[in-house]
Amino acid sequence: MTAVTTPRPLLVRLAETGREHVPFTLDGKAAEALVGDTVLTAVLTNSTTLRRTEFSGEPRAGFCLIGACQDCWIRTEEGVRLRGCATMIVSGMRLLTAAETER
Ligand code: FES
Repeated sequence: MTAVTTPRPLLVRLAETGREHVPFTLDGKAAEALVGDTVLTAVLTNSTTLRRTEFSGEPRAGFCLIGACQDCWIRTEEGVRLRGCATMIVSGMRLLTAAETER
């Protein structure tokens, strides 16, 4: 028998866990962030990757975290393109990762 394991999110929150929760969806599934999180933090505390590159399909998770490298683009279900490290999470956001960003 093979054990089924669920991949752990890339980021694990160790501090400031008492902030108000912010519900959003990630690839159609309910997720939670905390008030003050960027979209990048919100996604990576719920997922192993932010998106997949449109060139090779490799997973990406941002790089500079200060708005300079352009590695953290992510789309909403509505097709809006956001820079994950420079956009604050908002209640009700519907974000897409991985191949879903290629629509
Ligand atoms: S991680 Fe570099 S611009 Fe967002």
